[in-house]
Amino acid sequence: MTIGKFIVFEGIDGSGKSTHAALLKERLEKLGFTVYVTAEPSEGEAGKLLRRCLTGKSDLPEEAIAALFAADRVDHIKNSSFGILSHLEKGEIVLCDRYYFSSFAYNGSYSPMDWVIELNAPARRLLRPDLTIFLDIPPESFLSRIQNRSEKERYEKIEILKKVRENYFAAFRALPDEKVAVVSNARPLPEAAEEVFRAVLPLIESPNRA
Ligand code: TYD
Repeated sequence: MTIGKFIVFEGIDGSGKSTHAALLKERLEKLGFTVYVTAEPSEGEAGKLLRRCLTGKSDLPEEAIAALFAADRVDHIKNSSFGILSHLEKGEIVLCDRYYFSSFAYNGSYSPMDWVIELNAPARRLLRPDLTIFLDIPPESFLSRIQNRSEKERYEKIEILKKVRENYFAAFRALPDEKVAVVSNARPLPEAAEEVFRAVLPLIESPNRA
């Protein structure tokens, strides 16, 4: 059975994950690979409920949201129609916009991170990324995207994103066996894209999953 590669993009809001996933997909396809791009929350039942929570249409407590993200992740891995494993089994390269480090960084801002890591033990057992690419931007650069909010809202949002960024690095330190590449995206897009590609190159040169 051919087994593909699983590559995850992580970063704070506005860090350019979807842009880089699209650029990497294009580059890998030119090299002849079949690439499947996906994102979390997933399109499954738990994912739909999460989108309602994210848009303020459901007010589940933070612990329930953290558990729901972990549940959605297992569905995203195993689902027979859109599951990541089904694509990897076909030998495809799967690019995923957010995975369990998003839970550690975001949900870990509201609940103890150790507990959030524990909640995600099933996903970590089922499928670890071959590589997690963290796109790093200063939280302040998000300001330009939220100009229509009040000063207080802008300040609060930046404080949250600073905490989320710190949590990402705390999670990387707490889980040193995870393969992570930190790529600065606070520079011209082609430069960052080149570094992303260089981080991925060793994976596509080796024939088998680690
Ligand atoms: P989305 O609209 O997809 O934002 P983005 O384009 O920044 O990825 O919403 C994802 C939001 O969900 C984002 O604010 C991070 C949050 N999130 C968690 O809190 N925990 C998780 O496990 C995941 C995957 C996302």
